Amino acid sequence: MSKMRWSLLLFLSARSGAQRFGCTQTVDTKSRGLKVLQTSTTNEDFCSNMETTDSVGELVDSCSAFCGNGNIPLLVGIPSYGFSHADIDTVCLADEDSLAQYNPTKMNDCRTWSQALRLINTRAAALVAALDNMTMAQLNFKTGIATKSKELAATMSSEEVKNRLLGATQSQVIPEYRSILEAGVEDFLSNGKFRRDLQDTMEVLRGAGRNLDAVLTTNLPQLTKFVEQCGDLLVSTGPSKEYLLDICIQRGAVCLDNAEAQHIGCCCSTIPLGGTFGITGETGGDQANNSRRLQMTEGPVDVCAEADVLFGPEQTRRQTELQATDDGTALLEAHLTALKAAYPDYFSASNCRSRRLSAEEIEVQTEATQPGNRLKAEVLPHAAPRNLKLDGLTCSPPTATQGDTSYKAAFWAQTEENYCIDIPPDTGSASEAMTDQGLADICKSFCGDDAVPLTIGAINFGFNQTTMDDICLAGDILEANSSFVEMCHGHATAMQNVQSKLAAFVASLNVLEAEKTLYEANAKKAAADLKAAIEARATDVLQDALVNEKIVKLKELLIQETASMKTSGTAYLAIKQAVQDVELKGNALKTTLSESLGALDTLVTDCNKLFTGLGASNEYLLDICTQTSNACVDVDMGRHVGCCCGYSPLIALGSATVPTATIDGISATRFSSDATGATRTAARRLATAPYSVCGEAYKSSKPKVEEAHAKVRLLGQEELINQHLIIMARRYPDQFGCHFPGCMADTGGTCSLFECDSTRGPVDCVNGKCICKQGYCANPNGVCVSVSEFIQNDGFVGVSFSQPLAPSFQLYFVYSLLMLLVAPMWRR
Ligand SMILES: *[C@@H]1O[C@H](CO)[C@@H](O)[C@H](O)[C@H]1NC(C)=O
Ligand SMILES: *[C@@H]1O[C@H](CO)[C@@H](O)[C@H](O)[C@H]1NC(C)=O
Ligand SMILES: *[C@@H]1O[C@H](CO)[C@@H](O)[C@H](O)[C@H]1NC(C)=O
Ligand SMILES: *[C@@H]1O[C@H](CO)[C@@H](O)[C@H](O)[C@H]1NC(C)=O
Repeated sequence: MSKMRWSLLLFLSARSGAQRFGCTQTVDTKSRGLKVLQTSTTNEDFCSNMETTDSVGELVDSCSAFCGNGNIPLLVGIPSYGFSHADIDTVCLADEDSLAQYNPTKMNDCRTWSQALRLINTRAAALVAALDNMTMAQLNFKTGIATKSKELAATMSSEEVKNRLLGATQSQVIPEYRSILEAGVEDFLSNGKFRRDLQDTMEVLRGAGRNLDAVLTTNLPQLTKFVEQCGDLLVSTGPSKEYLLDICIQRGAVCLDNAEAQHIGCCCSTIPLGGTFGITGETGGDQANNSRRLQMTEGPVDVCAEADVLFGPEQTRRQTELQATDDGTALLEAHLTALKAAYPDYFSASNCRSRRLSAEEIEVQTEATQPGNRLKAEVLPHAAPRNLKLDGLTCSPPTATQGDTSYKAAFWAQTEENYCIDIPPDTGSASEAMTDQGLADICKSFCGDDAVPLTIGAINFGFNQTTMDDICLAGDILEANSSFVEMCHGHATAMQNVQSKLAAFVASLNVLEAEKTLYEANAKKAAADLKAAIEARATDVLQDALVNEKIVKLKELLIQETASMKTSGTAYLAIKQAVQDVELKGNALKTTLSESLGALDTLVTDCNKLFTGLGASNEYLLDICTQTSNACVDVDMGRHVGCCCGYSPLIALGSATVPTATIDGISATRFSSDATGATRTAARRLATAPYSVCGEAYKSSKPKVEEAHAKVRLLGQEELINQHLIIMARRYPDQFGCHFPGCMADTGGTCSLFECDSTRGPVDCVNGKCICKQGYCANPNGVCVSVSEFIQNDGFVGVSFSQPLAPSFQLYFVYSLLMLLVAPMWRR
């Protein structure tokens, strides 16, 4: 409590105060243009006559209060010995580099250099947002595939199309059919809406990458300077260049400007690398307003929270759009579930992050649960030719050569068994006989979720391979160039390097933040040690010293006791290492970014076409069935129904690995499982787990962050962690709000017999307790209010949490304890 009392005494009564000595503001003795600050006690009485200055402990406390967080207070004088201004200045403005130097230029440089990181963080956040945006656009693209392939199947089996094709002559039917197919996939072609969207997000991504690259180029060197030059103890000064607090007069009723003055003074020092560049404990009353404004324009930037803020509106829009269709909802849900599974800690309610991932819970029907595994697989190219039940003829799966690649057509169990119309429909299918829709479903299984299925032919008409190849390989609709696709995949995975380097960078920032807090805790600890040392030794040291050596001896003591904070000390080494790591990871990110931007350019300009999808055995075409006659597909007279798939490599952007097979092909469950369940799915394409830059960063930085925080607690400075959370919660209520001290979800109400009272607001009944929903905190009345409202009202305590935080904390916890005790008596 002494700290609170002191700050109040120091700052509030600074202007009034009983005037005994009439000392007025003075300046330093070395003509540095610095001010000496007087306090209420300076003029009131001698140090030993005042309750608040009559012990070393209290003097150090008032010195700490003056210096504020992140600074090490240097008390010059004890109740039994005071010093002249000139003596005090040999400590506070020493010429030699022994204790703390006064170097305003360096302090300013360091402040500027530390800001270098801020801009980098802001740009990094934009890149994270752009990556999130792209992931959502990919989901949108996949939803488009699902929706459009259904539409296409419906169009193909519509009466209108049937009639159109019936009316066409033999020579008209192929162009007719092609135009219908082309119209069906046009949303994925050139300027189609799905491709446009994916391409637009990629361009935003490219821009964000360029911006970050540019900022890293200009700002990383400043970070280097920050590490290299800002690790010395410097004298801290306040906003109006105050460097010394003239606490009180030890003896002799003269002011500091008198050569014979014997005062007790206090100055402050800091290591700028720790993020403190001066004394913030200003004297004004509008301090709360100032620091709040400060937070918005200058406070710390959390890359991931900032990215959420940037992407927020777009994310809402995209989620709503996805949820407009069943396919979109299912894909979104599957994506979110996979994210949660991959990063359970990051996306947990206790990390405030689960709100982002709340889409309605929907059972996703996975392929494994889909009916239709009873078909016998015939993985072809090497299968021996066998007898056609149809008419004793044999076909072998044909091939097609394009460039230097040999593409294979595939047969499945039914290709040589039955006419299209006689294929047993899938179990669970509505109709008894095979339909056009049924054929489209077979094609969809062949293509998988990442490619657009093109069913060529129908129950009523079929085509030969030449015609199919015209659609599947020729390049008007689908382009067959597997080496090109491979190159695109190479570019797409290059983005994964950027993501992992970005994650490593963000992780290093998380660690730096924790190390800064630890540094501050160490500074506080050093101050406490200093206090103890001064209490224990200063009196003796000063007593023993010759009169003209007293200040030298005191200075020696201070030097000894601050040694742990200096460049050789562990506190400095820890923060230096953290900043160096940020620098290292930033440089690695920059290198990768420069390399990958070119890849991204190529992706956007060259890889944005639909390519022919290829299965694991290079199968590009599924010969579904013969429509009429027993001619094979590869002869003039063959009339078969086939299926090939349109694949966009843009879908692979951001994946860590891309399977060479771009479609499920003949390895799809539908073809590879038989009735006995003896499946052959080894070659199946596996969906890659989603990657989250922030989830990854959180995961990898967590051990170090926790270690640093544990050390902070060990030093008894947990309140510094809370202060940081408060600042972050104010700035990012959605991301840090649930960490705001006092934000409890438990309303105190119960719901075992009755439902929660409706006045409680958004609550869930969990184990008989009324618990506020994610994003809400219980106010003192047990009503759930939004986190931001809770924060705006400082947790409804009515005390400002801004500068001197400790007292309000104590008050707050006493208050919340009371609430906890009283609440159950009347709440429901
Ligand atoms: C997301 O992508 C769209 C284009 O699809 C773009 O207009 C928007 O600016 C992007 N938003 C962010 C935050 O990157
Ligand atoms: C703080 O800011 C608010 C408006 O933002 C203003 O009404 C109030 O007077 C300010 N308080 C002080 C002490 O300046
Ligand atoms: C396939 O793409 C490569 C570029 O990766 C190009 O050199 C080649 O000519 C293309 N082949 C065909 C058949 O289009
Ligand atoms: C395939 O059919 C088309 C039109 O029906 C015909 O022009 C072409 O010659 C046939 N080609 C082959 C190799 O079967």
